[in-house]
Formats: sequence, C-alpha cells, structure tokens
Amino acid sequence: MIEFVASSRLFNLHTHHTTYQFLIDPNGFLLHTYYGRRCGGDSFGYLLRQADRGFSPNPREAGRDRTFSLDTQPQEFPAVGVGDFRTPVLEVENADGSCAADLRYVSHTISSGKYALEGLPAFYGEEGEAETLEVLLRDPWTGLEATLYYGVFPQLDLITRAVRFQNGGSQPIALTRAMSACLDLGRMDLDLITFDGYHTGERHPCRQAVRPGLQQISSIRGITSHQHNNFVVLCQKDAGETHGLCYGMALVYSGNFEANVERSQFGDVRLTMGISPWHFRFQLAPGEVFTAPEVAMTCSGSGLQTMSQNFHRAIRHNLCRGWWKTRRRPVLLNTWEAAYFDFDQQKLLEIASSAAETGVELLVMDDGWFGERNDDYEGLGDWFVNLKKLPGGLAPLVEQINAMGMDFGIWIEPEMVSEKSRLYQEHPDWALQIPGRPSTRGRSQLVLDFSREEVWRSVYAQIKKVLESANITYVKWDMNRSLTDVWSGALPAQRQGELYHRYVLGVYAMLEQMITDFPKILIEGCSGGGGRFDCGMLYYTPQIWASDNTDAMDRLLIQYGTSFCYPTSTVGSHVSASPNEQTGRRTSLQTRAVVAMSGTFGYELDPRKLSEGERSQMRAQIDEFKRFYHLLQDGDYARLTNPFRDQEFTAWQHTAPDRSEALVSVVAGMARSNAPFRTVYPRGLDPDMIYQVDGWGCFRGDTLMYGGIPLPQGGGDYQSWQFHLKKV
Ligand code: DGJ
Repeated sequence: MIEFVASSRLFNLHTHHTTYQFLIDPNGFLLHTYYGRRCGGDSFGYLLRQADRGFSPNPREAGRDRTFSLDTQPQEFPAVGVGDFRTPVLEVENADGSCAADLRYVSHTISSGKYALEGLPAFYGEEGEAETLEVLLRDPWTGLEATLYYGVFPQLDLITRAVRFQNGGSQPIALTRAMSACLDLGRMDLDLITFDGYHTGERHPCRQAVRPGLQQISSIRGITSHQHNNFVVLCQKDAGETHGLCYGMALVYSGNFEANVERSQFGDVRLTMGISPWHFRFQLAPGEVFTAPEVAMTCSGSGLQTMSQNFHRAIRHNLCRGWWKTRRRPVLLNTWEAAYFDFDQQKLLEIASSAAETGVELLVMDDGWFGERNDDYEGLGDWFVNLKKLPGGLAPLVEQINAMGMDFGIWIEPEMVSEKSRLYQEHPDWALQIPGRPSTRGRSQLVLDFSREEVWRSVYAQIKKVLESANITYVKWDMNRSLTDVWSGALPAQRQGELYHRYVLGVYAMLEQMITDFPKILIEGCSGGGGRFDCGMLYYTPQIWASDNTDAMDRLLIQYGTSFCYPTSTVGSHVSASPNEQTGRRTSLQTRAVVAMSGTFGYELDPRKLSEGERSQMRAQIDEFKRFYHLLQDGDYARLTNPFRDQEFTAWQHTAPDRSEALVSVVAGMARSNAPFRTVYPRGLDPDMIYQVDGWGCFRGDTLMYGGIPLPQGGGDYQSWQFHLKKV
C-alpha cells in the first residue's frame, strides 16, 4: 500500500511485513527516513537530526543556518556537485561543462498496478498485486528531470525501483552516471554479503563487515559476470538464517553494473546500485530520455531465509513469464559433456534412444551442429545446419527423436562470430572492433555489435529459419566471452559511451522477438555457465545454466550461494559422468542426482556408457524428481547448513507452503573413521503435525525439528540422502 500524508509531505510504502518511508523537506529535497519492519506510518522524520558539521556545505536556502547539509542527510536519490560528497547515483556533464545536478521535488502520482519499462526487463504485477509511485524531480537550473519509480508488492514484501531521466532543458546534457537506486540506512552496524567467484566457481558468498569508506563490486565485462553477481545483501552483524534484519537488493539487468556500500564519517550506511559508470556516457539532447534499469529490494526482519524466500516467490511469480512459467520443465539430456563437437546424426540417435529408455524427456543438441563448427575456432554466426553431420537437416532427426517419445532442443550463441565464418567474411564490421587496432579474442571469437538492430535481426532471421524447420521446443542461449574493443561503427565518437548499454538492449530485443515468435519454446540462459545469472535474463529465460562446473561437491557451493536470491526453478543443474570432467572427482550417481534435483534437473553424459544398473537407477531418479517436483520447484527453500563452514555435511530443505510436506536433502563430506554421530535438523515444519518420514517412521513436527533426523554412519565419501516428510 502506498500512502502520501500531505500534512507532513511523507510517503509510506507498506508491504505486509515492511515499511519504506521518505519525505519531501521544505526545500524540495527527498530525504529517506526508514526501511525496515512494518510500522503504523508515523513519520520517522524526527530521526533527521542536524548539526553544524565542518566541511559539509549548506544549500543557499538554509541562509545562515549551517546545520542542514546534503552531505549528512539521508537521501532518496543523491546527485553530485552541490554538497553531498558520498557516492552519488547521478553524475552529469552540463552544456557549460559544469557537473552539478540538484534535483528537487516537483510532483508525484500513485496508481494501481506495476509500471513497466520499455525495452527493459522488470517485475510485473496484475491489478491488485502491486501499486506504483512516480515522483518527479527537476534540476531547476538545467531542466534535467528524474522520475523515480517505485513498485510496491505487498504480499511479496518486494519494492522495485527504476529511474527515467529526461532532458527537460534547452541544452544538451550528458549522463555519466545514472544509477537505479540509493538506500541510505542511517547509522547501523551491518555486514555486507556479496556473491563472488570465477568461471566454474560462481556466486560464492563473501560476508564482511561494512567499514568506513567504500566497498564496491562491479562488472565491466559487458555481462553480469562470473566474478560478481549483481545481487547484494546488507544485514545486521548477528543476523543468521532465521533471525536478524536483512536487506537484499538485486539489479534486473545483464550488463556492466556497480554496487557500492559506503559508510560515512558518522557511520551512516549508503547502498547504491545500477549500471557501472565505467565508460558510460549517455548523451541527452533536449527532450531525450534515458531509463535506468530496475532494482528489486526486500527486507526481512527474521533472517536471511525469509529474505531469500521473498526473492524466490517474486522471481517465480512476478518476473519469469510465459508458457513455461508454471509448467513442469522437461528432464533433459544435454550432449555437451557426452560428445562435445564430435557427433553426427547416427550418434545423436543412439544417445537419444538410450536416453529415452530411462525416461529422459528432451534431448538437447549442444554446440557443433551448424556451419563448419568442428571446434571452438570456427562457425559462430553461420546458423544453418551442418549437412555433413546431419544430412537432410534437422527435420528427419527431430522426427525420429519425437518418435522415441522425446522432445528436441538446440544450442545457440547468437551474440558471437568466429572470424572463420561466412558471416564474418561478409560483415567484418559487424563485430565490436576499434578501427586501426587489432581486436582481442575471447574463446577465439569476437562479439557482434548487438546495439545495431540490423545485426541482431540478421542473426535472428537465420536462427528463426532453423527453429521453423523442425519441432524444436527448447533453446539454450549461450554467451562465452567478456566484451572488449567496445566500439561501434554506428555511433558517433561522443556516443560510444552508450554502447555497452545499447548492446544489452539489443540482446533483450532479440530475446523478446524470439519469445513473441516462439512462445512455447523453453529458453535456457547460459554464459559459460553462470556468467549472466541475473534477474534481467530471468525475465526472458526462466532457467539459466548455473555453472560449467558439473562436479556435485563444487555445485553444493555454487547452488548454496545462488539460492540467496534465485529459486531452485531457475537453476540449471545436471548429473554428469564420474569421474567429473572438471575436477576428476568420483561421486555416486545417487549423490550427483540429489544435487542436480536442487535445480531444473537433467543429465549431461553419454547414457550408452552407463551400466544396466546405472540406467535403471537413472530411471528411478527421474521418477523421484517428478514425484518431488512440486516441492523442489515451488516449495519454500531453506539452507540448513553452510557448506563453506560445515564440513561434515550439507543440507537443505524444500517445504510445501502449507507445511504438509517437505524434502530434506543431505550430502556428506569426506568420510572419517570412528566419526561422531551426525544429525540434520529440519526447519519450518508444523510443530503439531504428524509427519511420515519415508522408510523411518511417524513423528511430530516439533520432534523432527528439535530432535533432528539421525544420519547413517559410514559408507565412504560424499554419501547422500533425501528424507521425504509427509503429513499423515
Ligand atoms: C559453454 C556452456 O556453458 C557449455 O554448457 C556448453 O554449451 C559450451 N559453452 C558449448 O560451447
């Protein structure tokens, strides 16, 4: 519920469990007053204390009063150059070369429903599910306008924000920083959690104290990156899974980003998030507009688990879209680790027939089916079937696979081009390259200039033909390098700073076109695994390949970190061969399946190489996955242990919203001789409910939660168990 109290010029944004508040001060500055547990709506304006602070300047309206300074007040959308020296959200170059922007309140509107952002992904809400607040600010001296958008989803405890900038003056203005949100939290003793890593080791949580000065994570790779996810958490020092105040903020965007946490001279904490200002310069002629992407925030007064569950629900119901949003996703077998580039029709049919017998529902033909693509040095950009490998094209192959009772999907990497390709021979200028400089290769390939509509449309036309040529129900959209040599022949020199963002808009435009033309195709996002795992992509692709690392034990870490923001239903996860391709580690088929079931579930191995026993185990696993699907994909998720800390075992739980059923999954670490007894403690059960625990007995919920479930002893390294609890 959004409330405006005219007498005190106060905005209250209430969700079921939180309140967000700011006010308009007498000089038109928006001052942030509160974000936390739900309150009745009294003004927290009394917390805006003032003192004469040295070196903190005062706006002219203050006259001789030296106690008001933008440098010391909590602000809703702080600009630069007029008195606040903390991290700004806005930086400009005005026509006269000055850098000041001074945004003052002009007007606001409150409406039902959720705002949308043209060309950009955003959470959505039906009438009655969300409300929108728009606050118009203007710099009276240049005419620059900023409309702050707030989307309030009461039931989800979610607040979204975005900003639309318009040059309402008569001179050009360049935006050199245009971030999406600021959260000034006042003086609090907080920890910052970021999700960091590397290719094959994404989203490892890093928790550290917020200290004086600036802490920053960012990506300037053109994509969100394996190195830092665009989701961050601020929480009280003693906050844990089930207690403490926590704030989560996620950027709904897939390109360069920056998140800054600054603790000021007086201990106030500011969080800002948005597009990275690095090589960002958006030129606004009079009347022109720039929209900063959306940020989604939630606040939990009861720990990290609730914070995560708020995001999970919102992403599942109000970000993912379309045909596959609520449908059960197919159990797939992907050919990458089974065959790499080395396949032909015969081999695919053999793999397919072997997979079909185990209950696999979808065969995904990964990289290598098009152009002259026999290794990763060639072929990208030539999206026509390699007839040497697949004579007759896709139709006869797909027909035979369909006849086995399986669907069929393909891999694409539309944003890329190999120098050894027909596309590059015809259009070398379509690749991002700086004239006169040798271009930098990544995975031996170049990046296409997706800021140019004719480029993505031409690639799309080729891919569309392929998708129309056979019964294709799934596409894996990959992206395998960081952007370099970012220069476009289609932009004048002073607009090259727009290119990173325009590239992302081009990617979104092609995805939107594909969804429109093929609404029933399931698109799985991928960027060398989890290099572009973000809320932006999830608007188009309801699942994303979480990592190129398929080792079950490493995946425990990756999936643990991923779960802080992203629901199980979005996490691409497969059972691969043992020993594992990336680590050489041996784990049981059972353990690999338990881990992959905390994701979209599938296989990435050659089923022909499995023993009869393993194949029947695979069959049983697929049945189990289907049996537990409603819990795994829609249940409330709880992290029962922290695999970065707890060596003995890792455990997590999916619980039905009505608490009548739960699945507790456990994977043990290395075996120890004469080991102590181990017990796993489920969470969030109904204390008075009687649960049947598969293969064990009937117990009250409180007995199970407080007494725990004993784990079997021995059995070697990396044992695993699933305990299914069902109301009797
Ligand atoms: C990187 C992906 O993450 C892999 O799963 C696979 O699709 C390869 N690219 C293919 O080149």
